[in-house]
Amino acid sequence: MTKRGQESDHINQIHRARFSKSIMTSHSIAPIHTQDRDWVKQIIVEQWASSIVVTRGQVHRPAILPGFVCWKGKERVGLVTYRVEKQECEIITLNSFTEREGVATELLQAAEKAAVQSGCNRLWVITTNDNLDALRFYQRRGFTITKVYTDALKESRKLKPKIPETGLYEIPIRDEIELEKNLH
Ligand SMILES: CC(C)(COP(=O)(O)OP(=O)(O)OC[C@H]1O[C@@H](n2cnc3c(N)ncnc32)[C@H](O)[C@@H]1OP(=O)(O)O)[C@@H](O)C(=O)NCCC(=O)NCCS
Repeated sequence: MTKRGQESDHINQIHRARFSKSIMTSHSIAPIHTQDRDWVKQIIVEQWASSIVVTRGQVHRPAILPGFVCWKGKERVGLVTYRVEKQECEIITLNSFTEREGVATELLQAAEKAAVQSGCNRLWVITTNDNLDALRFYQRRGFTITKVYTDALKESRKLKPKIPETGLYEIPIRDEIELEKNLH
């Protein structure tokens, strides 16, 4: 086979793999129900080091917030929680347990739809400076960085001492980064 032939064969294999993966990974999204609450509690502690999440100096308890669960068959594979205040919706947590299958994208879409239905005109989220994956994820989905709160984590740690000093990619966790998407 020529080099060009090998290349196109390789590309076809990638396309086939992606196609079969998207068929195999059919998810469904459902609002958090009462029977999900114990799982939500457990996931929040596991993923966020405590039952609370702090953003902009405010303590949130995701286990009692509205949100959506992503199901793959009988398995829960993702969770989003959010809060609505003054026509604005803040994503508090977003977690995917089978990455790069579209789970977080579907959860974010569900939260956005719920925000629109509640009359919100802004969807926003706080992440930290080490979370390059989240910065990429949100910007690829129409969010823009609107504010950087330098050294905000000093205050957050007073409310949640369990926030580690070092985060993803061994980057010191220091700043809060605000991203938003206009819903109109
Ligand atoms: C950031 C995070 C939420 C992303 O979750 P995810 O489920 O992997 O996200 P998705 O699968 O929807 O999208 C990720 C990428 O996979 C790609 N993808 C989606 N389905 C795919 C498929 N079937 N095959 C190959 N790639 C696919 C998407 O196109 C996307 O790439 P892009 O950004 O270039 O478009 C996840 O890494 C996570 O849980 N992080 C820890 C918690 C966190 O930081 N949360 C955010 C702050 S609140």
